[in-house]
Amino acid sequence: MSSTLRHRRGPLPANPEHDTSGPISQSTRRAAARTATDLSPFSLLSHPLLRRLNVEAPGTYHHSLTVAILAEAAAESIGANLLLARIGAYFHDIGKLRRPEYFAENKGPHGSRRADLPLAESIRIITAHVKDGCEIARRADLPRPLLEIIEQHHGTALLELFYERKKRPGNDRLLAEQDFRYPGPRPRTREAAVVLLADTVEAASRTLSEPSAPRLRALVRRLLRKRQLDGQLAESHLTPSQLTNAQNAMARALIALFHDRATDPGTKTRPGTGNTAPAAATQPEDP
Ligand SMILES: [Fe+2]
Ligand SMILES: [Fe+2]
Repeated sequence: MSSTLRHRRGPLPANPEHDTSGPISQSTRRAAARTATDLSPFSLLSHPLLRRLNVEAPGTYHHSLTVAILAEAAAESIGANLLLARIGAYFHDIGKLRRPEYFAENKGPHGSRRADLPLAESIRIITAHVKDGCEIARRADLPRPLLEIIEQHHGTALLELFYERKKRPGNDRLLAEQDFRYPGPRPRTREAAVVLLADTVEAASRTLSEPSAPRLRALVRRLLRKRQLDGQLAESHLTPSQLTNAQNAMARALIALFHDRATDPGTKTRPGTGNTAPAAATQPEDP
């Protein structure tokens, strides 16, 4: 995986409709209203791509619905386009339709298909779901704002668990840190940023063994800070106070999602998802 390849693929050109850095003009308001109108047909879970996701990648489907709840709450707390954030979350992982069995949330009792693959091949398959998602979105004529969220939903984040595995004997020590990162680009809108953050939070929350409210709050705080320090929010127009608002809103929504489980210490299963929580809290490599 070379940097040449990453650059050749290139990001989508910037969309002026999503420039939230300056004062809100009449044309921006009109564009936002138009975006909201144009997006409404995609807000239904009966969209063919989402139906496919439900059948062919059920773990990814449930993950996406939860990400949508978190992203919508965060978007609302910062005055961003919450419909765009919610629908963007529905579609963010449609690239996993190409190889659903290689992703942890869809693995059956025998584990993930990529378990025996060389490290570099695993990374290639995982990171490819972003590019695959963009291709699927283009073919399905999804609106450009959704395409941008799909493209930016991992930014240039590091595949941390794989990076750790690099240190094990037998793995390719010649791989550089850059080879363990998603190709980007980083989120360029607040809506894409909240989807990236919600995606990270949802995936990590699945691994929390005792999801009490303080632990969930701490998890959200830690992950958002980590993404910020890694530079993933640098182009998103999120201000520090908006990040705090998004953090609080996301934590509240996550605690509500875990309500049943948090009040019933006997169960380790997330309500509505069927996902069983392992003993330790870790950051999954492919949220
Ligand atoms: Fe993803
Ligand atoms: Fe995801």
